[in-house]
Amino acid sequence: MIRGERVLLRAAERDDLPRFVQWLNDPIVLEYFGNLFPLSLEQEEKGYEAMLQDSSLCSFAVEFKGRRVGGAGLSSMDSRNRNAEVGLFIGVPELWDQGLGRDVTTMLLRYGFEELNLHRIYLRVFAANERAVYLYETLGFRHEGCWRRGESRHGRYHDIPWMSILRAEWSG
Ligand SMILES: CC(C)(COP(=O)(O)OP(=O)(O)OC[C@H]1O[C@@H](n2cnc3c(N)ncnc32)[C@H](O)[C@@H]1OP(=O)(O)O)[C@@H](O)C(=O)NCCC(=O)NCCS
Repeated sequence: MIRGERVLLRAAERDDLPRFVQWLNDPIVLEYFGNLFPLSLEQEEKGYEAMLQDSSLCSFAVEFKGRRVGGAGLSSMDSRNRNAEVGLFIGVPELWDQGLGRDVTTMLLRYGFEELNLHRIYLRVFAANERAVYLYETLGFRHEGCWRRGESRHGRYHDIPWMSILRAEWSG
């Protein structure tokens, strides 16, 4: 369990899955995130089972004021190169722009760099996801490249910047 200034990260449990399914089918949450296939509870349960066996994945439920509000994690953890990919979502749009995403990302960076001894943490984001891009830039992530017109959404192709932060660049 990791306690931030505003949110708590704890292990994702089986009884979180119905709520995750609800959020991951919400068009507002999915505007520039995730994949657009409808997600069933059974699929999410299979993903959860696979996650339990996958040591390259570290998955959290996000709680705010005692209520589950989203999910986050580090994936593709590569112990030789000490790299991992970070991802997060706050599933309740009414809670956006209140600092929760910043708190979650800060905790994942601290956990990744200080506890897992990672050296580089990276992510992919839709350029059109301006809120997320701004959040990552202000936390110290740097743009390192872009899949030009790399993914289609809402009837057009979007740039997908890749961003990363090195431990040496991280201010803690
Ligand atoms: C992206 C996401 C995690 C951000 O969470 P959040 O709780 O809203 O984040 P925060 O409130 O900590 O930070 C958002 C910042 O973006 C700013 N912002 C909001 N809209 C913006 C815009 N259109 N352009 C630039 N900045 C914007 C906010 O003012 C805030 O800045 P501040 O910290 O200086 O006040 C959340 O919106 C989300 O879960 N979205 C759906 C899933 C998703 O896109 N996940 C990320 C995929 S890479």
